[in-house]
Amino acid sequence: MTTLPHDDLGATWRAARTRPAGVHLDSAACSRQSAAVLDTVARHARHEAEIGGYVAEAAADGLLQQGRSVLAGLVGLAAADLAFTESASASVRTLFSRWRPAPGTRVGMLPGEYWQNLAVLTDAGLVPVVLPADDAGRLDLAAAERVLRDDPPALVHLTLVASHRGVVQPGRELAALCRAAGVPLALDVAQALGHVDCDLGADAVYGTSRKWLAGPRGVGFLAMRPSVSARLTPVVGPELFDDGGAGVDHARWYESHDAHVAGRVGLVVAVGEHLAAGPHRVRERLSALGRATRERLDGRGGWTVAEPPDEPTAITTLRPPADGDVRATVARLREHHGIVVTAIGRERAWAELTGPVLRVSPHLDATLEELDVLAGALAP
Ligand SMILES: Cc1ncc(COP(=O)(O)O)c(C=O)c1O
Repeated sequence: MTTLPHDDLGATWRAARTRPAGVHLDSAACSRQSAAVLDTVARHARHEAEIGGYVAEAAADGLLQQGRSVLAGLVGLAAADLAFTESASASVRTLFSRWRPAPGTRVGMLPGEYWQNLAVLTDAGLVPVVLPADDAGRLDLAAAERVLRDDPPALVHLTLVASHRGVVQPGRELAALCRAAGVPLALDVAQALGHVDCDLGADAVYGTSRKWLAGPRGVGFLAMRPSVSARLTPVVGPELFDDGGAGVDHARWYESHDAHVAGRVGLVVAVGEHLAAGPHRVRERLSALGRATRERLDGRGGWTVAEPPDEPTAITTLRPPADGDVRATVARLREHHGIVVTAIGRERAWAELTGPVLRVSPHLDATLEELDVLAGALAP
């Protein structure tokens, strides 16, 4: 049976937060913010009321820029490459609506692409080129190499960890193949940042604050190399300024003028907490939590785990027994046992899921005892 490494991380994470009302195993939906993050957000909002929203924003400028630098560094890019956005979905919409590849442009992607990303791409008239995957939904690199060599799409879009399955895609290897083929790679790290390594060599990377980084809701980011932003057209760009927008970093044209600045400041603090914990140690504890979850739950009451047992993520998804009802089970776990998990509908990945699954996603403070409680509640 798996034991958990780095118990100090669990203890620190727990001590930094309000006590949960029950058993929170739902960080792939939304993590619990630390008291320091909550206080930072409240303090910034109070500062806005005291000195004015724009003056408070200017006062936070240095911190925000430091945050852009650190966040971008986590995905292998630089401060000038990163724009704060409102969510991962807002980022992908901005990326493709401002890129505007010609309708009919072919985009490589996996069969299990996140439904809302797929909707954005098809709405833009782009044509999916499905890259082959194995039974777990993991990219077949040899097949991808053939596609990129023989009939390359104009770009590739990859979701590094899906919302419906805790499998890590071979992003670094795919980035190398794309680079060799001269095909830009866009990476969705909404479920990956703060969870698995995202510094992989992609050209555009976007994600969100509230999941594994445990920042505030309503904040996300879009980071891209200058070679990508050179293909984008901002709605309000340098040509509208009498100084030609001198001194504005290239990604900043894609930040909303008005925004939840307090949330952005909170995200910067959350990223600081992640770095202080040590991203490598965080990953080790999260993957051990994933393994411990799968060991306990696979086969329990007829529920079966979709991920390989040792997959290095903390996301576990369970297929129901023949007579199982995922939504009703999730409601029962919450109402009767105070356990928070998610029911994932098939719509998240039509081409990959055969039905709904129950998703369990503990963060650093989860204990083996809590996983045992879930196992007992799943099959009373
Ligand atoms: C893989 C993935 N991509 C994108 C998103 C969308 O993120 P947001 O809700 O921040 O727009 C999610 C949200 O669950 C996700 O899991």
